[in-house]
Amino acid sequence: MPIIAPSLLSANFLHLEKDCKMLNESMADWFHLDVMDGRFVPNISFGPMLVEFFRKATKKTCDVHLMIADPGNYAEAFKNAGADILTVHVEACPHLHKNIQQIKSLGMKAGVAINPATPIESLKDIISEIDLICIMSVNPGFGGQKFIPQTIEKIKALRKIINEKGYNVLLEIDGGVTLENALSILAAGADVLVAGNTIFKSSYPKETIQKLKQLS
Ligand code: DX5
Ligand code: ZN
Repeated sequence: MPIIAPSLLSANFLHLEKDCKMLNESMADWFHLDVMDGRFVPNISFGPMLVEFFRKATKKTCDVHLMIADPGNYAEAFKNAGADILTVHVEACPHLHKNIQQIKSLGMKAGVAINPATPIESLKDIISEIDLICIMSVNPGFGGQKFIPQTIEKIKALRKIINEKGYNVLLEIDGGVTLENALSILAAGADVLVAGNTIFKSSYPKETIQKLKQLS
C-alpha cells in the first residue's frame, strides 16, 4: 500500500485543529509540511513555529519539505521543531552532500527534492546516502496545480535504478496528485503520494485518503 502524505498547505488555517484531528483519525501516514521562503520559490508559507504545533498535534511522521534557499541555516531549527524527515532541493544546495550529512547527524531522515526541469541524473552521487527522493510533479510554490505528465517517465527511470541497485530510498511524488492519476503514478513506481487539494478540497477528506491508500 502507498504511503499517503497529505499536504497541510491546502488545509484551512482557521481550522487547523480540526484538520489535524481528521488526519489523525484517517489512514494518512505522514503530515507533509511545505515550507516556502519567497526566495527559492515565489511564495511564503510557514516555518519552524508552525511545524512545532503540527508536531504536538500528531504522532504521525512529520515530513518537512523545505522549499527555501540556504536550508543548512535552518536544519537545526526544524529538528528542534520536531521534523522526522527533512527534504531539501537539489537546486537550492550547491553543497548538497554537506546538507545531507547535517540532516542525518541531527537525527532526521534526509530527503532530496528535484524540480520538474531537473534531470534524475542530478541524484546519482547522493542517492545511496538518502532516505527519500521527492520528485516534484508541479513547479514548487503553490498547491492546486496540474500534474506534469512527463513526471511518469522520471518515476519509472528512478524506480528501475533503485530496484537494480537495491537502494533503500522512498520515492515520493509531490504536486497535482488526484484520484484519477494516482494509480498510474503508483504503477510507475512511486512509494509516497503527497496530496493537498485532492484531500482538503474534497467533501469527504477521510474517505478520499482511504481511496488513495487502497489504490494499486
Ligand atoms: C507544492 C508543494 C506541494 C503542494 C501539493 O509546492 O510542495 O506539497 O502543496 O499540493 P497539491 O496536491 O494541491 O498539488
Ligand atoms: Zn511539498
